[in-house]
Amino acid sequence: MAEDLYPVPESWAADARVTAEGYATDYARSLDDATRFWLERADSLEWVSKPTVADESSFEEATFGVKWFADGVLNVSANCIDRHLATRRDQIAIIWEPDSPAADPRFITFTELHAEVCRFANVLKAQGVRKDDRVTLYLPMIPEAAFAMLACARIGAVHSIVFGGFSPEALAGRITDCDSRIVVTVDEGRRGGKTVPLKANVDAAAKLVTCLDTVIVVRATGGGVEMQPGRDIWYDEAAASVAAECAPEPMNAEDPLFLLYTSGSTGKPKGVLHTTGGYLLWASYTHACVFDCRDGDTYWCAADVGWVTGHSYIVYGPLANGVTTLMYEGVPNWPSPARMWQVVDRHKVTQLYTAPTALRALMKEGDDFVTGTSRASLRLLGSVGEPINPEAWRWYHDVVGEGRCPIVDTWWQTETGGHMITPLPGATALKPGSAASPFFGVEPLLVDAEGKVLEGATEGNLVIARSWPGQMRTVWGDHERFFQTYFSTYPGFYFTGDGARRDADGYWWITGRVDDVINVSGHRMGTAEVESALVLHRTVAEAAVVGFPHEIKGQGIYAYVTLNAGDPPSDALRKELVTWVRGEIGPIATPDAIQFTPGLPKTRSGKIMRRILRKIAEGDVSSLGDTSTLADPSVVDDLVANRVG
Ligand code: WTA
Repeated sequence: MAEDLYPVPESWAADARVTAEGYATDYARSLDDATRFWLERADSLEWVSKPTVADESSFEEATFGVKWFADGVLNVSANCIDRHLATRRDQIAIIWEPDSPAADPRFITFTELHAEVCRFANVLKAQGVRKDDRVTLYLPMIPEAAFAMLACARIGAVHSIVFGGFSPEALAGRITDCDSRIVVTVDEGRRGGKTVPLKANVDAAAKLVTCLDTVIVVRATGGGVEMQPGRDIWYDEAAASVAAECAPEPMNAEDPLFLLYTSGSTGKPKGVLHTTGGYLLWASYTHACVFDCRDGDTYWCAADVGWVTGHSYIVYGPLANGVTTLMYEGVPNWPSPARMWQVVDRHKVTQLYTAPTALRALMKEGDDFVTGTSRASLRLLGSVGEPINPEAWRWYHDVVGEGRCPIVDTWWQTETGGHMITPLPGATALKPGSAASPFFGVEPLLVDAEGKVLEGATEGNLVIARSWPGQMRTVWGDHERFFQTYFSTYPGFYFTGDGARRDADGYWWITGRVDDVINVSGHRMGTAEVESALVLHRTVAEAAVVGFPHEIKGQGIYAYVTLNAGDPPSDALRKELVTWVRGEIGPIATPDAIQFTPGLPKTRSGKIMRRILRKIAEGDVSSLGDTSTLADPSVVDDLVANRVG
């Protein structure tokens, strides 16, 4: 439909970094002449020793591995800081906007960033942290989170950030999995006018682990915390006695940079490992092409550093490109639904990158909160984390961007390190809800359930046919799981876990997860994780969890729970189970609905038929399909009759 195609605005067509012709030519080259293409692109980084090889990866079982620029040597923090000092010493690197609009923002220049990161690195070193050691960061959205990340990168330590919304149990699991002996945290975090007891959570987690011997505590709110002598250190006290100079450690391109735990279909969250050279090139090059920042711009990615979006697009991508990046401590709707747009005006934000769930929540509050602000500085809008529905897309485009800003709807994953399918602002005519075209070097394909490659306009499972520099390298401690999870379903391809459609114009539309991962407010949650948490409760015999469409969150969490004999269902127990899951995993795993059921729909071999559970949760009970293979088909009648919602 012609009216649904938004052409590249003239202001962008004139001098964009990538034009429509440039995209076509370079995309073809990135696949046909990949080695030369990527070695040229790698020149945008500062290397201690330049790589002479590019992609040496294989998705085949016998030769399996992901490897890029393997003979290159560089340091990520030197790329994000030191190399800008000659030309950008006094430019703001990080703008920090506090939770409360009444508090003062912080402006950190590249010179100051250099000193802060060196000091942080020296504090870590003084605590015995060495190259390859894992450092767990459990921090809110304060500049020290970026300092700590870059400090780890500077000395070759591997950071593992745990989102501040995760519970002590979840934190403990992640500390133990990567055998991390040190945690960096704060006294308390601040979000939406409330405080979050992060240090107290670390204390609780510490009781569940054996490897932890040091906790560095950044003073943020000044709220009282207990310090355990011999284990806990105040950051400001330690930092007072170290130098503000620390030479960056030369790292091999394939040395680990960070670990980030993410949810999958089965089992515990996996530690996704990213390495140094390929990841930094991917984060910086995608950031440069997709957001197209210019000198003087203020770029704002409204994610949290606890997620991959914060890693690649608050810290590493923009700073590697010498761009001023805004870090916001708070939430989109506090103290009012106008807050995001007020922050845009306060700091003259030029590029804004946020999630559809935030847009849907703000859209519901009415346009006045938006139109009461100027937003004249905005030139580009971005979306990430989940499919954006056309209604939210149009509101973002027409109301927030007043029709003048292109929207880049970027599809990617923790595993991909950076953008994979996305429009480019100066090159791509937009369709609301479509992620449009593959980024350079990305070769997406659609396959059917048997793995047969599908051609033309069609829908299927989304796979990627070849490696790209930002691809994850392994699952921490379990390389076999890496292969099994992503490369065994469709041999020879990386399987994304997403479904997608390609239309007659070749545009890509991501339709959502096709595995047992649900996407709640743009956050990934494994149904298996929520089920494991539920069955740990003394009253629960069995649990099955599915996603269902949710107006604001995209997907909500629906749990079917069978209680032990003698434990009667009640509203009080329902509340208790909700609190229980929040305690085991964190608030992001809060079930939206719990249905008590005497039994679950199982096949005669004992397999739960999730298809039926999904349909009932969606409220689509008229088309449950064939239930004759169930061991006890009458279970379904009870499930339908007692549906919650
Ligand atoms: C979903 C977040 C549609 C998708 C960067 C993917 C999206 C999962 C989009 C990864 C988008 C992310 N359109 N779906 N633009 N971006 N997703 O690892 O299902 O937290 O597999 O990475 O989010 O979530 P993750």
